[in-house]
This record gives sequence, structure tokens and C-alpha cells, in this order.
Amino acid sequence: MQPTLSYVENLARQSGAILKAGYETEHQVGYKGVIDLVTEVDHQSEEFLLGEIRKDFHDHHIFSEESGIIQGSDEHTWYVDPLDGTVNYAHHIPIFCVSIAYAFQGRLTLGAVYDPMRDEMFLAERGQSSYLNGRRLRVSTVTELQRSLLVTGFPYNAWDTPQDNFNNFIKFGKLSQGVRRLGSAALDLCYVAAGRFDGFWEMALNPWDVAAGGLIAEEAGARVTNVSGEADYLSPPQSVIACTPGIQARMLEELRKA
Ligand code: IPD
Ligand code: CA
Ligand code: CA
Repeated sequence: MQPTLSYVENLARQSGAILKAGYETEHQVGYKGVIDLVTEVDHQSEEFLLGEIRKDFHDHHIFSEESGIIQGSDEHTWYVDPLDGTVNYAHHIPIFCVSIAYAFQGRLTLGAVYDPMRDEMFLAERGQSSYLNGRRLRVSTVTELQRSLLVTGFPYNAWDTPQDNFNNFIKFGKLSQGVRRLGSAALDLCYVAAGRFDGFWEMALNPWDVAAGGLIAEEAGARVTNVSGEADYLSPPQSVIACTPGIQARMLEELRKA
């Protein structure tokens, strides 16, 4: 059995309420790496989401950030990020969300990204457009990189990898209107869908960071690929670029030169 978009929306709204309720409290911060942290609220949100999905769809396969892989049928796959923007959250910066996607037979079908602080619900169903609080989303019509506002992010091991993305940041900083770093890849993708940003790229994310936002951006007319221009932006070696069609060729060319 497959979930509906309203089922996924309802999960996102409820876990968003968990994130909002915990936001003002003092956080218990644990470290998964040198700078990669996790709070008790990541775990609360994930426990809720996995509990619901496993209750209603017990045989589905789930990729979830804090619990890893829950084995199930390869027909039905979920990608769950219970709190995208954990570093912001732990520092009481109100830029974070919950991100949930569902794929049927390997194809992303449903996506929900919910920002509880702004009460912004981004939703998409394959072939049915994407929406922000019921309003249809469309990417910007920009065609020049110089007129584009971009956004990116950096990996948690940026001090220790050639994939640190710093050179790209400098390059696009000089070629565009500016490059932002919000700290939530799922919101970055939704903001491209909403035409707030013209383009987003990042290297070495995980599928739960980009699955829902990727579908939402695609359904708003964005071109979403890996940085080599291939359609698969979920599989390793992971990378993603999502942008308005008018600047895709130029962005890919610049990333290829890197
Ligand atoms: C992170 C955010 C951030 C991105 C990192 C991600 P998390 O996810 O999406 O914007 O730059 O690479 O890992 O840890 O907050 O769920
Ligand atoms: Ca994430
Ligand atoms: Ca997370």
C-alpha cells in the first residue's frame, strides 16, 4: 500500500510541532563527529516519524538520519530527516525544518518539507506541481548568473576533504549576485522552488537531506541533477544542483571546471 500526500503532510506537521515545542528549551547536544551534532529533539522527532510509518506501512524500507536503514520492501522507500538544520536549531537560529519523502519503485513520488517557525508547508506529488501552503510554486525566470542569488552548504568534514566546496563558494560568489548559507539543504531546495533563490548546489549530502526538497524543486520547474548533470541526485557519490533552467548550463560548466 502507498501513502497519500495528505498522510505525509500530516506527519510533517506533527513532527514540526515537536521541533517548535522544543525550540526554546535548553538542548542536550551530542556529537556524532567533530562538528556534527545532534539534539534530543532530533531523536524525539525521528521516534515519532518512524513509529507512525512503521505502524501504518510495516514492510516499507526507510532511510532515516539518526537510525540509519530500516530494511523493508524495495518497492516502497522513505527518506526521513527529522530535523534538517540541527546546527541552527542547537544555536536557537530559527531556520530548520522536517523533511519527508516517499519513493515508489525507486522513483520519488511524494515530498513534504515543513518549517514550523514560519508555518510554511512545502508539498509535492510527482506530476502534480508543488505548493507552499496551497499556493502553486514556480522557479524564477532568471537567465543570467550575474542576476542570480544562490545558496549552498558545506559538509561536516569540510576541514578534512577535497570536497569542501570552498573554491566553488568563492567562484560563484564572484559570478553571481551573492551566495547564501542557510544551514538547511531541504529549505534551500524549497526556496529555489519558490523562486526565492535562483540556484542551490552542495556536495556530499545524504538522500534524506535532498529527496523531498528535490522533488518539490523539480515539480516547480527547477532542473535538479547531480553536479555532473546526471538525473540521480540521491546515490553516492552524492551531489546536487537545483536551479532555474536559464542558469543550469552555466552553473554545471563552472562546477565541472572546479
Ligand atoms: C545539514 C544541513 C546543512 C548541510 C549539511 C547537512 P542536518 O543537515 O542540511 O544545510 O550543509 O551538509 O548535513 O545535519 O542539519 O540534518
Ligand atoms: Ca539534514
Ligand atoms: Ca538532520
